Amino acid sequence: MKKRIAVLLSNKGTGSNLAAILKAIDEKKIRNGRVVVVVSNKDDAYGLVRARERQIRTVVFDLKDFRQKGKTRREYDEALGKLLKEKYRIDLVVLAGWMLILSDAFIKYFPNKAINLHPSLLPDVGEEYIIYKNKIKIKPIRGEHTDMAVQFAIDKHYPIAGSTVHFITPVVDCGPVIIRSEVEIQPDDSAETLFARMKVEEHEILPQAIAWFCEDKLRIKKIGKVEIV
Ligand code: GAR
Repeated sequence: MKKRIAVLLSNKGTGSNLAAILKAIDEKKIRNGRVVVVVSNKDDAYGLVRARERQIRTVVFDLKDFRQKGKTRREYDEALGKLLKEKYRIDLVVLAGWMLILSDAFIKYFPNKAINLHPSLLPDVGEEYIIYKNKIKIKPIRGEHTDMAVQFAIDKHYPIAGSTVHFITPVVDCGPVIIRSEVEIQPDDSAETLFARMKVEEHEILPQAIAWFCEDKLRIKKIGKVEIV
């Protein structure tokens, strides 16, 4: 049975990673999964348009509406987890440009079954840095989103930037790493030019991580390292 995938996104990007996932499914690079629902917390997310064009079900799950009903952020997470688990019977949640940090109230529905694409290089669990060329320590940029994270890497004069796909855990951007992509920072790079090159790589690594998950190839070891079997 094909794994049922939910893609969660926001309106900060254009849903290009969703498009890359759908292309990888079309090209059978992801063989054992299909996107059954695309969720956004913003009704103007372009990813929703892309999903509708492909006749994929969409859900706008707006935090503001939730708050107006006197409900808490935790209740939002709980309701979102329950919806995806019980109504859509989701096997894998993919955060592809999702901007809200999800707590354990959500994660308890998808233990080791929710992955995030983060626009910076994150080290393995238990490591403090990424070591570049055996000597330069690259500190992780956690909790920043999209071009803010990219600009941060430029401002810090890092030689490289990149993206990471990791399992989500209650500690933000600290879960077991599945795959990373590295991109060299050029002296004349702006956040825009650098992010454009990073996205080309993201469009490879996110579908790859999903393909491995769907083929049951990912094992999380006790120390928080992911092994591809
Ligand atoms: C991606 O680049 C992803 O790394 C980033 O949002 C972008 C969405 O782009 N995610 C985050 O910042 C989450 N912290 P897209 O809409 O073109 O796929």
